[in-house]
Amino acid sequence: MEREIPDMKIYTYPDAVLKTTAEPIKNIDEDLQKIIDQMFKTMYLAPGIGLAANQVGILRRVIVFDGSPGEEEPFPHVLINPEIVAGEGSIKWDEACLSVPDYTADVVRKSRVQVKGLDRHGNPLDLEAEDLLAVCLQHEIDHLDGILFVDRISSLKRALYKKKLKKKNKGDH
Ligand code: NI
Repeated sequence: MEREIPDMKIYTYPDAVLKTTAEPIKNIDEDLQKIIDQMFKTMYLAPGIGLAANQVGILRRVIVFDGSPGEEEPFPHVLINPEIVAGEGSIKWDEACLSVPDYTADVVRKSRVQVKGLDRHGNPLDLEAEDLLAVCLQHEIDHLDGILFVDRISSLKRALYKKKLKKKNKGDH
């Protein structure tokens, strides 16, 4: 019987699911294909350039991202059990996240990374990325380890963000 995966909800900070390490994927089955398709749909609708399973409440190691962020044509990519195997250089990027609404901050990351993982059919995939794509991959893989970009900014900036969030939740602008 077909199992429908309902529309995905994007969880936002400080939800615990975003702080939790996702589990490696052992079975690449029909269910996972549906999750991946829904994640693409959710990411492009948002719109975003990357989405990790934690963000939609699924604690499995899978990310989707656009392989040519900023270009008009969508270039959907998926990585299962992604790992950063090498990195070099440094880049500062004003990052945003679908799970951290209405906030951006400069984060320093590697400017070039080599990532390995599996494609949606379970074939090994090696990827080299630089600049925005490298930033995106590091950001999404962080999600799978329960790390948000706000965990990578100064504690002062983070405190200011939390204050802003508190105010917003009170409906006080
Ligand atoms: Ni994010």
